[in-house]
Amino acid sequence: MDAFLRLLRYAAPHRMLIAGAMLAMVVYGAASAAQAYLIKPIIDEVLTAQSSLRSVAIAIVVAYFFKGLGGYFSSYLMDDLGHRVVMRLRNELFRHLLDQSAAFFSRRTTGALLSRINNDVGQVHRAVAETVGDLSRESLALVGYAALMFYYDAGLALLCMTGAPLAIYPLVRLGTRLRTVTRWSQERLEHMSHVAGEAFTGHRIVKAFGAEQREAAKFESASRALYRTNLKVTGVLSVLPPMMEFVGGIAIAGALWYGSREIALGNLSAGEFTSFVAALLLMYGPVKKLSRVNANLQQAIAASERIFELMDQHTEVKELANAVPLPAFRDAIEFRDVVFSYADGHGRNTIRGVSFSVRAGQMVAIVGRSGAGKTTLVNMIPRFYDVTGGSISIDGRDIREVSVRSLRDQIGMVTQETVLFDETIADNIAYGVPGASREQIEAAARAAHAHDFIATLPEGYRTTIGERGQRLSGGQRQRVAIARALLKNSPILILDEATSSLDAESERLVQDALMTLMLNRTSFVIAHRLSTVRRADAIIVLDRGRIAEVGRHDELMARANGVYARLHQMQLIETKRPVGVAVQTATKAESAR
Ligand SMILES: Nc1ncnc2c1ncn2[C@@H]1O[C@H](COP(=O)(O)OP(=O)(O)OP(=O)(O)O)[C@@H](O)[C@H]1O
Ligand SMILES: [Mg+2]
Repeated sequence: MDAFLRLLRYAAPHRMLIAGAMLAMVVYGAASAAQAYLIKPIIDEVLTAQSSLRSVAIAIVVAYFFKGLGGYFSSYLMDDLGHRVVMRLRNELFRHLLDQSAAFFSRRTTGALLSRINNDVGQVHRAVAETVGDLSRESLALVGYAALMFYYDAGLALLCMTGAPLAIYPLVRLGTRLRTVTRWSQERLEHMSHVAGEAFTGHRIVKAFGAEQREAAKFESASRALYRTNLKVTGVLSVLPPMMEFVGGIAIAGALWYGSREIALGNLSAGEFTSFVAALLLMYGPVKKLSRVNANLQQAIAASERIFELMDQHTEVKELANAVPLPAFRDAIEFRDVVFSYADGHGRNTIRGVSFSVRAGQMVAIVGRSGAGKTTLVNMIPRFYDVTGGSISIDGRDIREVSVRSLRDQIGMVTQETVLFDETIADNIAYGVPGASREQIEAAARAAHAHDFIATLPEGYRTTIGERGQRLSGGQRQRVAIARALLKNSPILILDEATSSLDAESERLVQDALMTLMLNRTSFVIAHRLSTVRRADAIIVLDRGRIAEVGRHDELMARANGVYARLHQMQLIETKRPVGVAVQTATKAESAR
C-alpha cells in the first residue's frame, strides 16, 4: 500500500483536474440514480394512468444526457491525470537512472531498464486513469442506487446487501494473488525485452556466428514464459465477474421473494417495486467494475513497487551534501595507495595499492597486459567508480569531496570503445559544448583530421550517423570522438587508445589527432603504440593491478629483465609502423612539444 500512497502523491499537484473529475462523477452518480428512479413514474403514471407522459419523457432524456456528460468528463479528466502522473514518473525515473554509477549499469541491462520505463510505468497509468476513476465514479453511482433502494424499502434494501460481505472476502484474497502474478508477468516482460535488446544490439555477431535460430529460440522461450504468467493473471481476473454475477443472482431472487409479499400487503406499488429491482440490476455494472478496482489496484501496486525499487536505489558514487566545486586544475593529480575491487569481482582487488602523481601539463602513459587494470584505473578519475581504498586528489583535494559535475567538467575522455549518438556529426562533436558555433565545430574536426572525410559525406556536418555511429568506419568514429574531446577543451584528458588495427593511413590520422589533443594538457594515456609511449613524461607499467615499474622509455628499456622490456619484446607495444609515417609523426610530435 505504501507504493500506492506514494503514487498518489504524484497526483496531488493536479487539484483542479481532480476537482473537475469529481464534479463530473457526482453528476454521473446522480443521473444514474435518476435513471432508476424514473421507472416508477413510467409504470405507475405513464403506463397505468396514461398521465405525465411529456414530463417523464423529458426527464428521461435529461437524465441520459447528464449521465453521458458526467461519464465523458470524468473519464477524460481522469485519463489526463493518469497521463500526467505517468509522464512525471517516467521523467523522474529516467533522470534517476541516468545518475546511477557505472556499477549499476554493469548489473542492469538496457532492455530491462527500458521495460521498466515503458511497461511498468504503463501499468501505473491504467491504475490512475481507470482504477481511481472507476473507484470514485462507480462508488458514487452505487451510492445513488442504494439511496433509492433505501428510500423505497429499507428492509428490502438491507436484505439485498447481505450478500455483499460474501463477495468482498474472496475479492481481497484474489487481489493478493494477483499482485504476485502481475509481478512475475512484469519480470518476464522485462526479460523478453532484455533478450530482444541484446540480439538487436549485437545483430552483426548474431549473423556472423549464425546464431539467428538460437536467439529466436531464446526469445520464444522468453515470450512463452510471459504467455504462461499472463495466463495466470487472466485466470485470476476472470474469476471475478462470474463470482459477482452469482452473488447478484442470489440478491435478485431474495428481492423477488420478499418484494412480491410486500406488494400483496400493499406496502409497495408495482412501479416502486420495479424501480427497486431496476436499481438492483443497475447496480451490477458498478459492482462489476468495482470488483476489478481492487484487481487493477494490485496490478498497479506491483508495477509501482518495481518502479520505486529502482528510484530508491542510490548510486554508489555519492556526492557529499557539502560538496564544493573543484577550482580550475593547476598543480597536480595524485593517486595515493589506491585500491579498487569491483562489487561483483569475487572479492579480488583489481587495483592493488597504486601511488603516483602527475604534474599539470605532463603526459603519463599507462601500459600493461590486457586485464592489468588500466581502464579500471583511469575510470576512477572522473568517478565512474570510487576507490575502495586510498584516495585520488586533484590539487590536494580528494575528488570525493568536490561536486561530481565540476570534476567531470575538467576532464575530457576518449574511451576504448567509441561511443557516438544517432545525431548529426556536428551534434556529436558539440556534445560537451551544446552551444558551440559552426566554426568551432569545424576547427575541432580539422584538428582531429576528421574534416576531410566529413566534407565528402552527402550532408557534411549534418549527416546523421546511425545508432552508435554505425554508418562511419572505425577510424572515422575515433576521429569524431577525438574532435568531441578537443572541443570540450578540458585541462585533464583521459585517453584509452583503442587497439583496433587501422590501416597505416587512418592510423596516422588518428595518431596525429591524438597528439594535437594532448598538447598543453595533463593526460593519462593508455597506450599501445611506441610513438605515444616514447613521448610520455612517465610510463607506468601496470601488472595485475600493481605498479611494476615507472620511468621513461629509455630507462625502462635499460632494465634487462624489466616488465616493460618484456612487453616490448612480446610486441605488446606496437612498433610496426611504416617507417616514413613513424618518422613524420615523431618529428611532428617533437616540434609540438
Ligand atoms: N564491470 C566490471 N565488473 C567486474 N570486473 C570487471 C569489470 N570491468 C573489468 N573487470 C575486471 O577487471 C580487470 C581489469 O580490467 P580492465 O578493463 O581495467 O583491464 P585493462 O587493463 O584496461 O585491459 P585492456 O588492455 O584489455 O583494455 C579484468 O580482470 C576484468 O575482468
Ligand atoms: Mg582497457
